[in-house]
Amino acid sequence: MDQISVNGGARLAGEVRVAGAKNSALKLMAAALLAPGRTVITNVPRITDIAIMAQVLDRLGCTVDFVDEPGPDGTPSPVREVVIDVPETLGTEADYDLVRRLRASIAVLGPLLARCGYVRVAHPGGDAIGSRGLDMHVAGLARMGADITGEHGFVIASAAGGLRGATIWLDFPSVGATENLLMAAVLAKGVTEIDNAAREPEIVDICAMLTAMGARIEGAGTSTLRIEGVAELRPVVHATIGDRIVAGTWAYGAAMTRGDVTVTGIDPAYLEIALDKLRTAGCEVTTSQDHFRVRMDERPRSVDVVTLPYPGFATDLLPMAIGLAAVSEGASLVTENIFDGRFMFVNEMARLGAEIKTDGHHAVVRGRERLSGAPVRATDIRAGAGLVIAGLCAEGVTEVGHVHHIDRGYPNFVADLRALGVEVHRSAAPPDVIG
Ligand code: EPU
Repeated sequence: MDQISVNGGARLAGEVRVAGAKNSALKLMAAALLAPGRTVITNVPRITDIAIMAQVLDRLGCTVDFVDEPGPDGTPSPVREVVIDVPETLGTEADYDLVRRLRASIAVLGPLLARCGYVRVAHPGGDAIGSRGLDMHVAGLARMGADITGEHGFVIASAAGGLRGATIWLDFPSVGATENLLMAAVLAKGVTEIDNAAREPEIVDICAMLTAMGARIEGAGTSTLRIEGVAELRPVVHATIGDRIVAGTWAYGAAMTRGDVTVTGIDPAYLEIALDKLRTAGCEVTTSQDHFRVRMDERPRSVDVVTLPYPGFATDLLPMAIGLAAVSEGASLVTENIFDGRFMFVNEMARLGAEIKTDGHHAVVRGRERLSGAPVRATDIRAGAGLVIAGLCAEGVTEVGHVHHIDRGYPNFVADLRALGVEVHRSAAPPDVIG
């Protein structure tokens, strides 16, 4: 396992382009299953999770090819085109060996049930950020007429007579449940209404692709999705929207390191609250249609943050909010409302000298002028990136182990850091670090 080491005292400065959003591209790949033929998805990030999703589709009988899109000079292209050939007859089983490595593979449940009337997907279980249930996916599909059981670690769903439209109220605007139900509903008989639906930009992106495929969807980006089922869909070429979480990582990195970063390839409207918090912290933030710039000349002032479903502050930026709070002047209250285990990484932040006290889903962070470099370990994708950025604000060297987590969500992370002026090394970790 590799580790990334950085020297403290660095300042992020320059321009960085973000690739397509992981959490969009993964679901767009699952949506491709809905139409036999050749779907092409562009602006797909070069990350491990995408490679695993390609394996999931491959096991279902698809042929998946990657084509490099032109990258910056000398670096591997951070984005690729994914070409997915979907057969008329699909496999119906997603095994645990792949599902456990990629929770998002549960996104094949809805499309496979809609296309094949039967599906057997391994239950993904929880992960390092929390328990992550499936009850809303299951209840929604059952309302659409599916028989669903759980056996030997698998979710087994069948709808012999086909799925039918239904009104579904979600207890919580779950991203994954909204996506699964949406992808099942596009081929169901009749009208489905999903109330309290998730409104994330990635959901809007899937709706755009499904609509281009011939689906009839109203209300994308609102809490009520109305879907009129159609008999069949056609394959399309679709470009993935930019990754707002990667963009937000660079934005918070600029604020924490008193830097000056322009982030391109992203609609700043996806990050309104996160950027507003940076303004409150003292940053100068300028936006235009497809890029933004964050500049910071002083020590950040503390800001309170509450994570919520979109358009609230994204839970995936929580490690960046904690990092910012750790070097700000004053105390910040950070509240997490989405994942029960999201604070697990704060012990690693504490190793860098961050003063953090958690109580349930709240964390009080007392800012320090400087953190202190130490060996730490990434516990999930976002925590990993957050720890590296925090290391830039620490005296001495910070070594972040388990960086395979970062590879799951950040294409070219090290190259981007270098482009922003950071001296950074990636190497195989000694055994005492990887543990
Ligand atoms: N939940 C249930 N029952 C359900 C569905 C969800 O209890 O049936 C709970 C979960 O346990 C969790 C909360 O609801 O506590 C939110 O879950 P949601 O379904 O909204 O999230 P997800 O689809 O599992 C996606 C992203 C996450 C991101 C969240 C929230 C993908 C592949 N993952 O997860 O991204 O944090 O939405 O925005 O799209 C990441 O990229 O690092 C990441 C974790």
